[in-house]
Amino acid sequence: MKRKPILVIEHCEPTLSEWLMLEYKHAAKLWGDKLVFTRVSRKKTSEVLQHLGQVTSKKAKDFYAQRKCVVLDPQAKKPLTSKDCATFDVLIIGGLLGYENPQGRTKTMIADETAFQTRHLGLLQLSIDGAVFVTKAICLGMNLKDIEIAQEIEIVHDAVHSTILPFGYPLINNTPMITPGLVKYLIKS
Ligand SMILES: C[S@@+](CC[C@H](N)C(=O)[O-])C[C@H]1O[C@@H](n2cnc3c(N)ncnc32)[C@H](O)[C@@H]1O
Repeated sequence: MKRKPILVIEHCEPTLSEWLMLEYKHAAKLWGDKLVFTRVSRKKTSEVLQHLGQVTSKKAKDFYAQRKCVVLDPQAKKPLTSKDCATFDVLIIGGLLGYENPQGRTKTMIADETAFQTRHLGLLQLSIDGAVFVTKAICLGMNLKDIEIAQEIEIVHDAVHSTILPFGYPLINNTPMITPGLVKYLIKS
């Protein structure tokens, strides 16, 4: 990446659940430095997230009011491109867990509150860490249409039980990139 933008995860969930934390940890590992968690109001959550990146209680729209920001929103009209990564200072991803039927929370909780531009990462709803992976691949020069994404994945627990995760999962050598620890967590719970 010639010029690495700041990646913001705007923490919008009321609690830091185990599932959310698994995605945040993986997102932090994927992006590396220049990661900021915004809108973190609880002291305890802030203490935990400080181990993964910079933390502020402010919303991205206020913390980065003077910078060129773009919100990654599934409802955006334009796709994210490598050129965007060179143009924008800050890329904002929602710290939001997905529902089977996407509820447009990125738009209502983040994009609609700002005048920032928006970009999408394809038609499928990705997990937070999946969105970070695809964003990084694009910032490294890939074209969105060349990134393979599985439509959903099935976690098989035993001969009769399984869980369908109805989200897009980037494929690496034909294998879906699942959040580390998520399968163990789903089996346990
Ligand atoms: C699990 S998604 C939450 C989506 C949320 N349920 C909604 O309907 O907007 C977590 C975050 O990843 C990013 N994301 C996931 N899929 C995306 C896509 N196809 N295009 C753009 N951003 C995406 C968004 O920033 C989103 O807030």
